[in-house]
Amino acid sequence: MPPTNSSLFRRKSIAAILANPPADADGHGGTGGLARHLTVRDLTGLGIAAIIGAGIFSTIGQASLNGGPAVSLLFIFTAVACAFSALCYAQFAATIPVSGSAYTYAYTSFGELAAWIIGWALIMEYAVGNIVVAISWSDYFTGLLDGVGLHLPRWLTMGTQSAHTGYQAVLSLMQAGQPLAAASPAQLEGYYAWAQAPELLGGYRLVVDLPAFLITVAITALVYVGIKESKNASNLLVILKLIIVAVVIVVGAFYVKPANWSPFAPNGLGGVLKGVSAVFFAYIGFDAISTTAEECKNPQRDLPRAMMFALIICTLLYVVITLVLTGMVSYKELGVGDPLSFVFAKVGLSKLSALVAVSAVFAMASVLLVFQLGQPRIWLTMSRDGLLPPVFAKVHPKFHTPSFSTIVTGIFVGVPALFLNMDLVVDLTSIGTLFAFALVCGGILILDPYGKSDARFRVPYLNGRWLILVVLVAAIYLIKTYNVEGNREFWLDASGQHGWLIADELTGKVTGGFAHQIPTMVFLLASLALVVVTFQKKLSLLPVLGLLTNLYLMTQLGINNWTMFLIWLLIGLAIYFGYGYKHSKLGKAVA
Ligand code: ALA
Repeated sequence: MPPTNSSLFRRKSIAAILANPPADADGHGGTGGLARHLTVRDLTGLGIAAIIGAGIFSTIGQASLNGGPAVSLLFIFTAVACAFSALCYAQFAATIPVSGSAYTYAYTSFGELAAWIIGWALIMEYAVGNIVVAISWSDYFTGLLDGVGLHLPRWLTMGTQSAHTGYQAVLSLMQAGQPLAAASPAQLEGYYAWAQAPELLGGYRLVVDLPAFLITVAITALVYVGIKESKNASNLLVILKLIIVAVVIVVGAFYVKPANWSPFAPNGLGGVLKGVSAVFFAYIGFDAISTTAEECKNPQRDLPRAMMFALIICTLLYVVITLVLTGMVSYKELGVGDPLSFVFAKVGLSKLSALVAVSAVFAMASVLLVFQLGQPRIWLTMSRDGLLPPVFAKVHPKFHTPSFSTIVTGIFVGVPALFLNMDLVVDLTSIGTLFAFALVCGGILILDPYGKSDARFRVPYLNGRWLILVVLVAAIYLIKTYNVEGNREFWLDASGQHGWLIADELTGKVTGGFAHQIPTMVFLLASLALVVVTFQKKLSLLPVLGLLTNLYLMTQLGINNWTMFLIWLLIGLAIYFGYGYKHSKLGKAVA
């Protein structure tokens, strides 16, 4: 028997990857088969194509409801956290300019087990993220149909989970003798959908988000027959998105009433931080540019620049849009799925509202396309490494696309989109992506802790020894001043009493207790360890800050999300040890 490498930390060598670039999904061979034609402008466009989507069109609504106009500041903080990660992504992309993104990077820095874990976590970013985009697309699409007098039954336009939650909330209000007006629009929608739906066995009702399912099927079919995000189509959609966003900002600005900005942070810092996952979701996608490394004219120079340009442009737009939305109507009204068109309907501009909705439908379909294309290609790479069964690398003989992986992605996105509640999926996407970003920052610390790599782009080295102590003191000061704790729920009773309690996000039950402190404690322990190592070893400050900010944002996502994410990771580990570990090509290679 040939000797094998049985270590869980077996690593791919960068030299070997560069010497043997993988064939692309079309079977055209390695790097030589992919045309290098993307410039920094195309790459920035691609970044914006992947970034601007459900986040700005939908989830910003709920975040503004919780945090008020101050959510605009959260967009800035989150952008800074993303920028640290983008620098690390950029260095990896410059070191290993092949597609495969964070999965490939982890394979070279941490080894196979971590690569598997990151590949598994990326499912959260790509496939689970697309569930959010599909649900959000459906919100705009059904709003649009309503606008032209085509009313689909409510029970065919929302997820089972949202309808049931809304129904129960309204029922409790009614039982407490409160008027229906006390319910939020989303709760009322859920109530009516559930009440009107056909009854199934066991008192359950048939409430499904059919448009979300159908758009997933349509996009999957396009991806299956080989439509490629060609640079021209993608640039066109980017222009369309930028135009809508510009129109919303410019026209909206005339309807801003500065009185709506006061109070700026009605629910305090806790309310603002409740928007972490929605706001972070809005930035997801800049990392997707790294998968085009094999098609860039000059990846080492252009990828880092494009990621930064895309982040800066989107941050500016997001901050201004949040101020415009919360200035046009009271933040209290923004808890809707289609806030950008809603605000115009609210100020009486119904035609503009419809125009925004039509454009949003196209804009969001393009985000769906990017991630629906990306997910099967990650599986294909993992399958070629032997970590997934060979069928995941199967390429369609006629369409030259990863056929099996594409169909699995379609099912994985489309079916849950029928049932699930958007908030839950946003949280899962954000936690999985933050985890992947944290590992990428950690990967740079392992590969190049002192910024000495000879890659053409490297994260600028700032000696972390003393600076980390400055950051530590500043963070302790902020935490003490603003009393930042884990994820909390604002409560307000009929007599006007209010306060904060730790809440169970899944059931809405206010629970509190030790378990809810776990994310914060994990963060504090990890930060302490990192601060000590950074001080001792004079580590590069920026990747350390990337790791810390991503971990911090994760603490804001609450114990239920952590639990679900851990369960997801455990399932992944079971699959790895049941299959990947034994079939890994690297494992079969001579040690
Ligand atoms: N950032 C992307 C969106 O908001 C995922 O849809």
